[in-house]
Amino acid sequence: MLGIFGHPIAHSLSPKMHQAALQATGLASEYVYLPFDVVSQDLSLAVGALRALHARGVNVTIPHKEAVIPLLDQLDCQAGAIGAVNVIVNDRGWLTGYNTDGIGFIRALKEEGGVDPGGKKILVFGAGGAARAVCAALATSGSAEILVVNRTIDRAESVAEMVKSLGTQAAALPFSSGKLREEVEKADIIVNTTSVGLYPAGESLLTAYQGCLKRRHLVCDIIYHPRETLMLSQAKTYGCSTLSGMGMLLFQGVEAFKLWTGVEAPVEVMRKALEENLC
Ligand code: ATR
Repeated sequence: MLGIFGHPIAHSLSPKMHQAALQATGLASEYVYLPFDVVSQDLSLAVGALRALHARGVNVTIPHKEAVIPLLDQLDCQAGAIGAVNVIVNDRGWLTGYNTDGIGFIRALKEEGGVDPGGKKILVFGAGGAARAVCAALATSGSAEILVVNRTIDRAESVAEMVKSLGTQAAALPFSSGKLREEVEKADIIVNTTSVGLYPAGESLLTAYQGCLKRRHLVCDIIYHPRETLMLSQAKTYGCSTLSGMGMLLFQGVEAFKLWTGVEAPVEVMRKALEENLC
């Protein structure tokens, strides 16, 4: 058995994506992928049930990505640096936590955006769990420098410290900084990891800085609903390349599938399942 623990969970696209992958790889007789609506006070029981039921593993999503850590036996090093887990693998009762969100973002960047983050200057909006995953993966993929911009500066500083601990140059800035315009101009890749722009609100953190965008910029949003956020449509107006959050959603799932089954995930089947079920 496979599945996803979260609350709320009804709108998760992961069951559709992974069931399609299990069917396509002939593994549907061995595994089923189910959504589990787990409230915070039941998380410990739910993790215990993985052991009791010999489930192979689960995805973990909001609000449990951090709270689940003390309930596991071991963390992979990326998950440890990030401080959040989105995949649990159960090896005969021994539970290991992984984080495939960041590697999912890097694969989307390379395979959908056609860009290698190696040597690039990256400006990241946000300093939550998603930002930590994206920044850790960028740092370990050879990015030259990461600037973390966040409303709450303490959180941005904490992410910048994590990036430096992984051996990559980093700095933190608040949105109010007068240097932000210049930093947008200097960046190669701009990534929104905040919830600003999420359906139905049509907002963008780039609105005040869109005039600094050049054709050479790649602008990424980890939001996939809507498929094209206001930030991405602003970037397109200035001739930039853009990348939506759909690729990160797809490739975090592709990486998780391999961890559980040992089988290469059918990427195009999973992409089709997402596209069919995204509004
Ligand atoms: P996740 O784990 O999905 O990253 P999170 O930890 O709640 O979620 O982080 C949300 C991010 O979106 C944070 O960077 C948050 O900024 P703060 O750290 O200052 O709270 C950012 N965010 C959310 N709403 C925002 C808004 N209206 N303007 C700017 N940033 C916002």
